[in-house]
Formats: sequence, structure tokens, C-alpha cells
Amino acid sequence: MTVSISETKTPSEPSYVFQASVSGLGAQVVGGKGIHIDVEKGGKMYKNIIDGVSGAAVGALGWKDDEVLEIINDAAKKSTYSYAPLMSNKGSEELSKFYIDNSPKGVFASALWLTSGSESNENALRIIRQYYLERGLPDKVKIISRDNSYHGFTMGAQSVSWNPRVDDYKPYLFDQVNVALKMPSAYTYRLKKDSETEEQYSQRLLDTLEKKIIDNGPETVAAVLVETLPGSSLGTTPPPKGYLKGIRHLCTKYDIIFYLDEVMCGTGRCNPNGKLNCWENFLDASEGPDIQTVGKTLGSGFVTIAGVLVGPKIKDVFVNGSNYIFGGNTYSSHEFNCYVALGVQKKIAREHLTANIFEMGNLLAEKLRKQLLTEENIAGDVRGVGGFQSVELVKNRDTKEAFDVKLGVSTRLKTLCFENGLSVMGMPANPDGTCGDRAIFAPAFIITEQDVDEMVKIFVKCVNSLSTALKQEGAW
Ligand SMILES: Cc1ncc(COP(=O)(O)O)c(C=O)c1O
Repeated sequence: MTVSISETKTPSEPSYVFQASVSGLGAQVVGGKGIHIDVEKGGKMYKNIIDGVSGAAVGALGWKDDEVLEIINDAAKKSTYSYAPLMSNKGSEELSKFYIDNSPKGVFASALWLTSGSESNENALRIIRQYYLERGLPDKVKIISRDNSYHGFTMGAQSVSWNPRVDDYKPYLFDQVNVALKMPSAYTYRLKKDSETEEQYSQRLLDTLEKKIIDNGPETVAAVLVETLPGSSLGTTPPPKGYLKGIRHLCTKYDIIFYLDEVMCGTGRCNPNGKLNCWENFLDASEGPDIQTVGKTLGSGFVTIAGVLVGPKIKDVFVNGSNYIFGGNTYSSHEFNCYVALGVQKKIAREHLTANIFEMGNLLAEKLRKQLLTEENIAGDVRGVGGFQSVELVKNRDTKEAFDVKLGVSTRLKTLCFENGLSVMGMPANPDGTCGDRAIFAPAFIITEQDVDEMVKIFVKCVNSLSTALKQEGAW
């Protein structure tokens, strides 16, 4: 299927929605089928754009899936709204059981369903707080997370994140010295020394974490939080060998909660066993997290659903303590959302789509690596796991010097790709050069090898033409 671009008859209209480009309409999706979307933009209609990032790593089944329409219809028929603090429902129970049963045995014991990844991380922070209160340990409040991380848009989730876009909101964030502490990111491409092995780099990071725990007093540290595979924040840089195992070990040693954020990388996007969790690439069942947030592909864009998975260690403390959670969100455990997500996940499992995206995603990376890194262009690194891959763009491949953020390299590449029929996510370099521009791929789980080839063809062509343009401008 090739992209077609035509003039639209509608004049450019004002926008009444307060988002992205505020005054005008910007790009507007007007249709989609499978991995393709139709988009109106700047008086033009772009048909059959390949959605290489499925919105924002959301759609697993692509768009307008006929079976999903039936799932939605069925869910609407059997769902009744209930307010979680007052009443439970069968849909949320069934989805919880499905997620727990399809994760390594014994790792998760309970789940809470919310409407976004940010809200899930807010709820996870509340669960962690109550867990220590139930145990009579009110001073365990510090959350150690990472530089260059993203856990959401709400203030609590931003407080435990750090990236250049968070700085402006500092007046509203948790205390960054006594509550929301940061440790270095695990960023092998840039931060591993040439003289180190991956294992030695991991050990250096773990030594830094252990020192932070000891210096702060383990009795004040509540949790260590990391994205298993960082998405928009760093561009799918896999944890160096032994790193996550080491964090697990330190958490156990110092009685700290091991908290993974798999909102973007989880729920089938990067699982090596045809199941759900990304951490299964790096950890054994006995080393799983104590708490984990998920979202995105869970409802695959058909419903707004995300959640918190709780391990037996945490659940048992609640059960043996107050056995009660005070309050909740209006749309927690929303039955219709839960039934749709369950139907979507059952279809993904039945059609072995997690295995497909793992294979196709790795193939995409292999082909990008082969075609980009062997030629002269601005691609510096291709990395990721399964269906979540990134290309980091650099001014100098040897020194890894990032482009000046003012050049807007990732935005230009994203626009070029779009004009050529491929939608990818473009993330800007950090202003201080600590991270380069990235293009991120997270296609739907249904992609075929032919789709992969088409994506690679368009992307390589666009990287090469942007490289030539930057050369002409004297920027590369
Ligand atoms: C790792 C991670 N955590 C949390 C979130 C927040 O999720 P949401 O945008 O659904 O609130 C995101 C969103 O991209 C994410 O990538």
C-alpha cells in the first residue's frame, strides 16, 4: 500500500481543542485500518501513512479491527458502571486474573485498573506509602528514580521523573532532596566507558545506587523505580547486563520496594516468551518486581486503561493489616474498559501476536542497523528490544556529539518521514547534549516482514536526505 497525498477542499479551520498547536488544527487523524492511518494536515489529505509508532506505542492490533468492534459491543452489553470503593465488578476481576495468570507464577497477586499511565504511577506511589504505614514504618518515603526518565504528566509522576521538559514545573514537584531522589540513567551507548564491560558498567551504577541508599539511610528509602526499557525519555536503551538483577538484589537487601514502570514497554510489546512483561528479558520469576505499572497496549487505544500490578509481598501486608484502601478514582476498575482490554489481550494471545512483534521488531532493528550504520549518515545507534526500537541521531559517530537542539533534527526527520508515508515519534536532544535526537518505532503487533521492509525503505531514505540537507547547511 503506498501513500497518496491530495489537496483537501476544506479550508484551514481554527481549533477548539487545547493541545499541541493551539491556534490551528495541526495534523488530524481522520481514519485508520490495520497499520495505516489517514491524516489531514495543512490543507492536504495523506492516505495510507504507515503508523510506525502506533500512536504512542499504544495500538497492538492496528486500527478498525473488526473483531474488536464485536469485543466492544459485547463489553457494552455486559458492563455496568460501579464505583470501586463501594463495589467491585466481574470485568476488573477477570482482567486482573488474566494478567496475573499470564505473568510468571507468583510475581503478581493483585491489580488495580486506572485510565492512564500517569494515574497508575500516582496510585502506585499511594500504595507504596500505605504499605509502609501498614508496617509501622512512616519514615520510609524516599523514591529513587533516574535521570532522563519519564513516568507521566501528572505532578507526582513528574516528580519521580526527570527530563529537560520537567524543569519548568519544579515549584509544583515533590521535594527533590528529601523525597524524590535521582540516580544516573543506565545509558550504555553514551555512559559506559570504553574500558568497561557491560557488567562493569552495571556494577558502577549499582555501587552508586547502593551508596545513595546508605547515605540516605535505608530506613528512609521506600522504592527504587525504573522503566524496564525507557521509551520517550532515552530511546529504548536496554538495561546493561546484570543491572536489573542488581537493583532487585539491593531492594531485597535493604527492604525497599522494586518498582518497574512498563507503561510503554510492557503488555506484550517486548516479551520474549509470547507473554506480557518486558522484564522477562532480564529477570527470572524469582526476581520479578514488587509493584509494576502498565498501560498503552493494554487497551490498544480502543479504551483508556492502564494499571498497577501488585506482588504478594505488598498484598499480604495490606491483607494482614487494615485490609482496606480508602477512596479511589471515579473510573478505577471501569468494567467496560476492563472487558475491552481483556478481549484485546485474549485476541493477542490467541493469534500469537506478542511473538510476532518480538520477531518483527528485532528484524526491523537488524535491517536498520545494516542499512544505516554501515553508511555515512547521521544515525549513531540503533537499539531496543522486540517491538520497541530507536535510532539516535548524532553529529559525530565517533565522539557521539549530539546535534544542537535548536536545529530541531528529530522534528525535521519526523516531518520528512511523514511526507514520505511513515509516522515515527521524534524526540529532541537534551539541550546540554547528554542525549541526542531520537526517532522511536513501536509498530502494531500485526506487522509483517513486508511492512518492516517498507518502513526501513522510507526511514533510510529520509535519514539520508536529512543528512544531505544538514551537510549543505554546514550543520553536519
Ligand atoms: C514509561 C511511561 N510511564 C508512564 C507514562 C504515562 O502514561 P500516560 O500518558 O498514559 O499517562 C508514559 C507515557 O508515555 C510512559 O512512557
